[in-house]
Amino acid sequence: MQYIQKGRNMYSSPKKIGSMEIKNRFVRSATFEGMATEDGYITDKHITLYKELAEGGVGLINTGHAYVHENGKAFDKQTGVSDDKYINGLRKIADVVHKNSKNCKVALQISHSGRQSRCLENTIAPSALEEKLTRKIPREMTKKEIIDIIDAFSQAIRRAKEAGFDAVQIHGAHGYLISEFLSPYINKRTDDYGGSIDNRIRILEEIYNTSVDLVEKEFPIFIKLNAVDFVEGGTSIEESTKVAKRLEKIGYSAIEVSGGIWEVATLKKKDLGWKPTFLPESRILIGTVNEPAYNLPYAKEFKKVLDIPVILVGGINSLSLVKNILNNESADFVSFARPLIREPNLPNRWMNGIGNDEVDCIFCSSCLSTVVTPGLQCAKLHSK
Ligand SMILES: Cc1cc2nc3c(=O)[nH]c(=O)nc-3n(C[C@H](O)[C@H](O)[C@H](O)COP(=O)(O)O)c2cc1C
Repeated sequence: MQYIQKGRNMYSSPKKIGSMEIKNRFVRSATFEGMATEDGYITDKHITLYKELAEGGVGLINTGHAYVHENGKAFDKQTGVSDDKYINGLRKIADVVHKNSKNCKVALQISHSGRQSRCLENTIAPSALEEKLTRKIPREMTKKEIIDIIDAFSQAIRRAKEAGFDAVQIHGAHGYLISEFLSPYINKRTDDYGGSIDNRIRILEEIYNTSVDLVEKEFPIFIKLNAVDFVEGGTSIEESTKVAKRLEKIGYSAIEVSGGIWEVATLKKKDLGWKPTFLPESRILIGTVNEPAYNLPYAKEFKKVLDIPVILVGGINSLSLVKNILNNESADFVSFARPLIREPNLPNRWMNGIGNDEVDCIFCSSCLSTVVTPGLQCAKLHSK
């Protein structure tokens, strides 16, 4: 494949995710906003954020993760999609993106926090194993609860479509509930939802099959997955590529490749004690400035086995790197979280040849603390 396609740079060329055409290869990776009201409604801060992103030229925006069930809320001030009462508010996000862009698409990222909730006292998970960062021991989910959560995901997908979103991304990464089911480190069940890969995938199979009964088959449902959990006994690249291939067969329309679970922060720091702060130096889900495109080796493995698009996220720090990734077909889309907090206009800047080849973000991760208060922003502790 040529880097220059029909006189256009590859990064400006459109490509489909399922039935949805994305106008270019730049994706905004899901980024928790910390902007909702205490009871999960969106606020004017969301509108400003998504207007800026839409105007900045990105082809597809994934929202921050929204909880599908009250018992799966990860953080205070997280957006809710667990009830029809949220549809009208969510519609404002879809509308502001569509009205303020030339055909930017927007996907609602939906999640259940499982054992990783920071704001709930009582958590549920596939198995009752202590989460070492929060020190909470979740309750093992009953089969009935699994079925309820499958329904909650499906209803959330229906609500996203009714609210005008172009697609849904399921958060299947970073140690939240779906990645807990997939992970042999966390899922120790002995019933139909644990054990073999087929059993650990079952929840995703049933979410997909229940959802297509509620939305048209054309409505794209895609997923962010852990290539690796970064813990011994956790998801490995050998397994995650098999999982991805199975998800493709089920009907999922793209895979975003990520990795890590929050607990890795604790496992890496033996002397941690209890410290309820983020640990940016850990490769839990995000890398440092010294690790450009740190998920690239994994994305390449996914590309080898998949026909559906692969989205690469993590530490993508320059246009040259973007060109290399796309030109070598190591991924179909490049996805950004921190760089777009710093510079929402980054895609337009690059596409118009303005400024540096490099992103302005220095991957210091201080944005992680701004989601607590006052709502997502670059802490601007640095200047280049
Ligand atoms: C402030 C912040 C919030 C995040 N929230 C989410 C989220 O809601 N869902 C998700 O899948 N990943 C989330 N992530 C991870 C990013 O989507 C992305 O995978 C990670 O930051 C690596 O990409 P980057 O190097 O471009 O920042 C978040 C990251 C940051 C910094």
